[in-house]
Amino acid sequence: MVAQELHLILLIFFNHLNCLLSQQEEASFIYDGFGQAQADLHLDGAAKIIFPSGLLQLTNASTQQMGHAFFKQPFEFDPSVKKLSFSTHFVGHGIAFVVSSSIDFTQADPTQYLGLFNISTNGSPSSQLLAIELDTVQSAEFDDIDKNHVGININSLKSVESASASYFSNTKGKNQSIKLLSGDPLQVWVDYEDAILSVTLAPLRIQKPKHPLLSRPINLTDIFSDQKWFFGFSAATGSLVSYQYILGWSFSRSRVLLQRLDLSKLPQIPHPRAKKEQTSPLLIALLVLLALITLVALVGVYLYRRNKYAEFREAWEKEYGPHRFSYKSLYKATKGFDKDGRLGKGGFGEVYRGNLPRIGDIAVKRVCHDANQGLKQRKGELLLVSEYMCNGSVDRYLFHREKPFLSWSQRFAILKDIASALNYLHTGASQVVLHRDIKASNVMLDSDFNGRLGDFGMARFEDYGDSLPGTAAVGTMGYMAPELTTMGASTRTDIYAFGTFMLEVICGRRPLDLKIADEKRHLIKWICDCWRRDSLADAIDTRMGLEYSEEETEMALKLGLLCTNIVVESRPTMEQVVQYINKNLPLPIFSPDSPGIGVSTPVLLETAFTSRCSLAPSASPPSPHNSMFVTHTITYGDGR
Ligand SMILES: *[C@@H]1O[C@H](CO)[C@@H](O)[C@H](O)[C@H]1NC(C)=O
Ligand SMILES: *[C@@H]1O[C@H](CO)[C@@H](O)[C@H](O)[C@H]1NC(C)=O
Ligand SMILES: *[C@@H]1O[C@H](CO)[C@@H](O)[C@H](O)[C@H]1NC(C)=O
Ligand SMILES: *[C@@H]1O[C@H](CO)[C@@H](O)[C@H](O)[C@H]1NC(C)=O
Ligand SMILES: *[C@@H]1O[C@H](CO)[C@@H](O)[C@H](O)[C@H]1NC(C)=O
Repeated sequence: MVAQELHLILLIFFNHLNCLLSQQEEASFIYDGFGQAQADLHLDGAAKIIFPSGLLQLTNASTQQMGHAFFKQPFEFDPSVKKLSFSTHFVGHGIAFVVSSSIDFTQADPTQYLGLFNISTNGSPSSQLLAIELDTVQSAEFDDIDKNHVGININSLKSVESASASYFSNTKGKNQSIKLLSGDPLQVWVDYEDAILSVTLAPLRIQKPKHPLLSRPINLTDIFSDQKWFFGFSAATGSLVSYQYILGWSFSRSRVLLQRLDLSKLPQIPHPRAKKEQTSPLLIALLVLLALITLVALVGVYLYRRNKYAEFREAWEKEYGPHRFSYKSLYKATKGFDKDGRLGKGGFGEVYRGNLPRIGDIAVKRVCHDANQGLKQRKGELLLVSEYMCNGSVDRYLFHREKPFLSWSQRFAILKDIASALNYLHTGASQVVLHRDIKASNVMLDSDFNGRLGDFGMARFEDYGDSLPGTAAVGTMGYMAPELTTMGASTRTDIYAFGTFMLEVICGRRPLDLKIADEKRHLIKWICDCWRRDSLADAIDTRMGLEYSEEETEMALKLGLLCTNIVVESRPTMEQVVQYINKNLPLPIFSPDSPGIGVSTPVLLETAFTSRCSLAPSASPPSPHNSMFVTHTITYGDGR
């Protein structure tokens, strides 16, 4: 139900009933508000005076309501006197100024009957009733001209005269339309003089217009048989509901004697909207408070997360800037660590393939929990991100016969790549970075078969000049320098592992292969045997056939032996290795019988396995310009 706010002001200026009303003492009255009028008025239906404002309310926001307010004292006139007049004016839907011979409207109906008639009394001369209607409903039944009109009704709802609501503006000299439903109070004048009834209306602050809206000759003595007239108001609601009010009323028998209403004293219309406005400051305050709380909470969460991550920031990130991705982005990139995208599973955790927007294919390693201790993290999950290497790791080509074999030039290029990368780790950064797990399965191949040193799962930073602490041995069986268990990791243990890797690449087999003949089982020993027989070519991967450089393979094999010397001090540095491998420096003179050369290391099974998952993975520095190794980036998830 659409509640329409309809607020009326009726300022009634009655005049020119002079001499017609017999009771001279009731010749005039004025109400600037109806606070004092209770005793003078007859009210029925929904009509009531609202205190303390003194507003006369005729209907409220209920449907099918009617209300009447009549001045109790009837006006009597002397039929011998020829002259008779009255006037009225009203505003709004269903409100009417009424002159009636009776004040009993109990049998009348609301809605279109305006609370004045019923179906049988409408149009009957016995009604003895004059009404001025301000009608906001267009009833075809009663020939209404529109839904915003003023009409003069005599004994009937069918107006004898009507016009669209408007007023003549004295200042502009033309008619101005008025919206009866605007909710603004409206002034109405009804004058009856010389048997002419005229109706004038105007907005609240406007002076009485010079020209009335309606003006019609009417002989009222024809209408009323009785000589007692009651003056008052009627209002009714239908399916449209509205509050209808009268703010003030002035009446006089003579237009000259009519007192002016004091507009400043009139009660205010209680705007239904005003109620909302009263509650809204509280509501606004609540909303503001809520917004503030939300803001504080968000800032709090932000600061908390920032602090949390600040604590996790790794030393290398200070130098190279953070290389982090949100857990969410990695979760998305790997489709929620979908098993279908799993590339592999190792001692340190599982590796998933993923794709990050703007970065491309990545490999994400979820580090197993036991391996986390060394990092500055708590319950979070450690994820290492690296570029995805589409051609996998070198071991697949070396040891799995189904793979296409690598040509010598490819192998030699890979060796150079890895030597260069390892040299960078050892000397390029402000800290010495040990890789700790150089082996064929950690050397990745990109789409152009460039070698990338991957898996910094165990890499650690060492400050230059630090004496190497006796950390637990770590690495992979066969690649571990013999002194590792006693002296701990150093650049020289990395070089030992690199030497082993070189020999693997050239020979296409693992450093220790229990499945082959005894004399060949230990690769280093076997190469030295071949060298002694002056047939180093026997050690080379047979799959390359004759497609290799004898000079290069010989140099590389000897360099591998040099790097795997068990005498630590006799091993070259990575810088030297790079120079040898690039043929910028000739190899030192040595033989298979030189001290420490060709000695197979004992297999330290237990050490190797127990230490695998107990040491901290860490991060790599960023790639050097030639991108020789895979960059790992650390990210911390929130658990989930
Ligand atoms: C309107 O007045 C009638 C009594 O005249 C009352 O029963 C009804 O509850 C009122 N409705 C509102 C909305 O105030
Ligand atoms: C109409 O009102 C008159 C009195 O005003 C009453 O006698 C009559 O029964 C009413 N008719 C209907 C249909 O309500
Ligand atoms: C103003 O309205 C009145 C009443 O409807 C009409 O008689 C009069 O001609 C109009 N005047 C102008 C200037 O339109
Ligand atoms: C009004 O009507 C009455 C009776 O019908 C008649 O006596 C009187 O002269 C009329 N008055 C005017 C002004 O026409
Ligand atoms: C190496 O990667 C490239 C690019 O993805 C691909 O076209 C090629 O087939 C791969 N080679 C092997 C041997 O897997």
